[in-house]
Amino acid sequence: MKLKTLILAAGKGTRMKSELPKVIHRVNGIPMIEKIITICKNIGVEENILILGHKKETILEVVGDIPYVVQEEQLGTGHAIMQASELLKDYNGDVMVLCGDTPLLKESTLKEMYKQHKDSNATTTILTAICENPFGYGRIVKSEGKVVGIVEEKEASEAVKKIREINAGVYCFKSKDLFDALSKIDNNNEKGEYYLTDVIGINVKEGKLVECYTLEENIETLGVNSKVELAMASETLRERKNTALMDAGVIFIDPRNTYIEESVEVGQDTIIYPGVILQGNTKIGSNCEIIGNTRIVDSIISNSVKIESSVIESSVVEDRVTIGPFAHLRPKAHLKEDVHVGNFVEIKKSTLEKGVKAGHLTYLGDATIGEKTNIGAGTITCNYDGKNKFKTIIGKNSFIGSDSMLVAPVEIGDNSLVGAGSVITKDVPSNALAVSRSKQVIKFDWRK
Ligand code: UD1
Ligand code: CA
Repeated sequence: MKLKTLILAAGKGTRMKSELPKVIHRVNGIPMIEKIITICKNIGVEENILILGHKKETILEVVGDIPYVVQEEQLGTGHAIMQASELLKDYNGDVMVLCGDTPLLKESTLKEMYKQHKDSNATTTILTAICENPFGYGRIVKSEGKVVGIVEEKEASEAVKKIREINAGVYCFKSKDLFDALSKIDNNNEKGEYYLTDVIGINVKEGKLVECYTLEENIETLGVNSKVELAMASETLRERKNTALMDAGVIFIDPRNTYIEESVEVGQDTIIYPGVILQGNTKIGSNCEIIGNTRIVDSIISNSVKIESSVIESSVVEDRVTIGPFAHLRPKAHLKEDVHVGNFVEIKKSTLEKGVKAGHLTYLGDATIGEKTNIGAGTITCNYDGKNKFKTIIGKNSFIGSDSMLVAPVEIGDNSLVGAGSVITKDVPSNALAVSRSKQVIKFDWRK
């Protein structure tokens, strides 16, 4: 494919009212610019080139290593594209121009638009959409069905404002013709900017063929200029994601109140309740139940797991585990098959072998706990001495009595028992009972 893209991302994004550059604001979890780059990569273009200016360092931190040119001063979309003329001076293929703020575009649309561009041999093909409320967009002005030019909102007469076909800000150009026309545009307009859209009028005047690839609605062409539009774009992406998951067999109680990022995978017959947030590289197996106010980030959850009102970060959970309500798995918690973690339990960087139970009010950090061991309510691994972290190792089939403090580093063997309320500072061998608390004293008739 002799096609390169130029992605506009140098603008200030004033209407966004933000300290951050507009294009790194996230839509359903992904920075808008990253979303656009991924779409472009997936349609198989030769090279994607960004046009950066305002806060370019911040954008580069997000997008990593990608070719770009700099527009030092933001003098308009036409001026922005001119910055690439040197880079593309020996290139005679096609250029697709996109804006960094239209994250809802579909790959299929861009592919079909490009196909039409090739088939018609047009100089310029514009992606347009028919819009209920065209306010803010450039309008496609036609005469006898043929494009005459694009007029921006600020320049539009009352008659032009009524036109409902809008410019989506995506174009295919023959590269040579694009830069030739750009050298002829000026900034004699309301904003004093060099408008890329003026290229169209010049094409038409020079008798070149300009075509539109038109969508029936303005959903995928939504330009995000404000926080309201940012929320609208996220909503559309979530809807697409949830629909794709339902098509693949996931059950949603209330899809409109379920927040699943693009990268998340969920297996068949898993039930997702309202208020669930699934983020990052999270994979959930089949037949799970994820209930109310649960947030799961970058975690692997296997099959038939039940999670209620809990937070799980960068952890691994195996088959048939039950979690919550109100548990917190912090990074590197690994819960093996049939583990139960209950109310108000926090686990960090710890492995719980098969069948371990920690039902209530517990902190387990830097610990390894053997199969079928029971952790009593209120148990705490004291893993931190103020300077360093230490490990707690507990064997299998042991029983840690309620309210025990396990002062790490410490090791407890298999089949052992720790009496309730103990402070354990020395290792406990297998098959032993360890109790460390003051003996109970009874003074008879004390109240008298
Ligand atoms: C632009 C189009 C408008 C179209 C709309 C679609 C022009 C003049 N207008 O308007 O016809 O309907 O997109 O969403 O092109 N940018 C730069 N350098 C600049 C100015 C802007 O790189 O000097 C970048 C911005 O970062 C942004 C993109 O170009 O990613 C579009 O700029 P924006 O100001 O949002 O244009 P609109 O007013 O939305
Ligand atoms: Ca815009």
